[in-house]
Amino acid sequence: MDIKVKEAYEYIISHISTRPKIALILGSGLGFLANQVENAIGINYKDIPNFPHSTAPGHEGKLIFGTLFGKNVVVMSGRFHIYEGWNPSDIKLVIHTLKMVGIERMLITNAAGAVNTSYVPGDIVLVKDIINLMFRNPLRGPNDSDFGPRFPDMLGAFDREWMEKIKSVYPHIKEGVYLAVTGPTYETPAEIRAFRKLGADLVGMSTVPELIVCAHVGMKTVIFSCATNMAAGILDQPLSHEEVVDVANKVKEKFTEIVKNALEVLE
Ligand code: HPA
Repeated sequence: MDIKVKEAYEYIISHISTRPKIALILGSGLGFLANQVENAIGINYKDIPNFPHSTAPGHEGKLIFGTLFGKNVVVMSGRFHIYEGWNPSDIKLVIHTLKMVGIERMLITNAAGAVNTSYVPGDIVLVKDIINLMFRNPLRGPNDSDFGPRFPDMLGAFDREWMEKIKSVYPHIKEGVYLAVTGPTYETPAEIRAFRKLGADLVGMSTVPELIVCAHVGMKTVIFSCATNMAAGILDQPLSHEEVVDVANKVKEKFTEIVKNALEVLE
């Protein structure tokens, strides 16, 4: 195993007493769930050997171990974006470390622009597939066969069984395709028109590198996007991070309820 993963793993396990099987990654403006973790043990990313630490506004940067809605979890409060300068391999290190800790399932949340014009800001969408237009892959380089195969199948990334259980609670939840770009610029209206033709419903700057590593290591994943804004060019107005955070804040309760139910449908 990679020595960097080993060092990070050993640091983490020396600070926790139980090993969760579920991890949550919280997106822009969606970090509020981290405050609901009970019996929380927070470990700052900057204290974990070899861990990247996040700089984006609204991204706190710690692992929080504890109980959320009755489940033993670890919450990644703050994630690593390519636009911050992180390499996809940094994201791989984090997911590999979580895998070592014993994580089997991953719930990923993100803020995204709505490419699908039938969406409205504030919609919570269950992501059913992705398009990787980051043109990068965290698995590039020698394969670590202790973690997974050289050529992983991406279908396995999604936990369809978990998604079905979520849909039994929310039969009308929207399902969409998330297209990932690196950012940090928002897209142009022409790009959004092109993305729509490619089959995208949502566009964002995260999630896909994490999902790819989850697919590789066999971590079953569910992704919720909060459509915080109509994507570029749909409305006659500029996009801003303030709007993204503001809308994410407005759906706090709805989002919390969905995550609660998503955790509760698991045995
Ligand atoms: N584009 C890309 N990423 C985003 C957007 C967007 O419109 N909104 C929130 N994250």
